[in-house]
Formats: sequence, structure tokens, C-alpha cells
Amino acid sequence: MKKIMVAAFIALLGMGVYMDRSEVQANEGEGADIAHGKYIVHQVAMCIQCHSPRDEKGRLNKSKLLRGASMPVESPFPKSAWATLAPSIAGLPGYSVEEGIHFLTTGKTRRGDKPLSPMPPFRMSKEDARDVVAYLMSIR
Ligand code: HEC
Repeated sequence: MKKIMVAAFIALLGMGVYMDRSEVQANEGEGADIAHGKYIVHQVAMCIQCHSPRDEKGRLNKSKLLRGASMPVESPFPKSAWATLAPSIAGLPGYSVEEGIHFLTTGKTRRGDKPLSPMPPFRMSKEDARDVVAYLMSIR
């Protein structure tokens, strides 16, 4: 009997911790405005310009927006590190809501380093970052 009580207590404790964590997650992304996130991605921070493939005339491939692209420009500083690829960010693969917000508010990736140029180290407001993350994660 005692053992069962202890087991039940531990299980309840576990649930409490679990619920706490899911609450934190819900709060981080809570109230996100997906339309505002789309506006930032498409019209303000211009993520689409680097993260989408282009046709032979250099026009964005509208059916593959944000699905990743090779970098269309070379570094003006040949000795500095420069990315040759902008990865797909449709669905924000590999990132949790918290990590995505952290990335866009601090400029540091989920691995704790800075992204290679020309990815800008954004310092968005938490609200803007939350909306951008919600929009990117809504893309299937
Ligand atoms: C000027 C071009 C450019 C713009 C504009 C741009 N990116 Fe990037 N982005 C890149 C490149 C290039 C990389 C690859 C960097 C690397 O390899 O370290 C990258 C990497 C990323 C990554 C992966 C980071 C990681 O974990 O390594 C994410 C997420 C991302 N960008 C999101 C965004 C979002 C969101 C926006 C708009 C708010 C945006 N980018 C705008 C060029 C750009």
C-alpha cells in the first residue's frame, strides 16, 4: 500500500512538472498574430528574399517561398565567413517556439553561436519574434 501511495505521489509530481512546462510553452507563443508575422517575413525583414529559390531570371519562385535557397550574392569581404546556403525555414525546422524567439531577439542560434553572414543577427521585440515564429511554424 505504502509503495502504491509513493508511486501515485511521484506520478502526480511528474504531471505537475509536465503541466508547468507546457504552460510556459503556451505563454511564449500565446496571442501570436500570424498575419503580422507574415507581414514582417514578406515585407519588412524580407526573409523571403534570401530563403526562397529563384528562377533563371532571378524572380522568386512563388510556390517555394521560404523553402531554402543557395545564396545569390557573394561576400564583399573575401576573408570573412559567408554562408552559401540559406536553409528552408518553412515550419522553422529544428526550432522550438522558445528557441525561435530567442534566435530572433538575440541574434544567437539554438546552438548558441551567431549565424554566418549574410543572415542578419536580428534583435526583434519579443512580440514581433513571437509573431514571426508563429507564422513560420504555420507553413506546411
Ligand atoms: C540577407 C539574407 C537573409 C535574410 C534577409 C534572412 N536570412 Fe535567415 N539565413 C540566411 C543565411 C545565409 C543563413 C545560413 C546561415 C548559416 O549557415 O550560419 C540563414 C539562416 C537562418 C536560420 C537558421 C539558423 C541556424 O540555426 O543556423 C533561420 C531560422 C533563419 N535564417 C531565419 C530567418 C528569418 C526568420 C528571417 C527574416 C526575419 C531571415 N532569416 C532573413 C540569410 C538570410
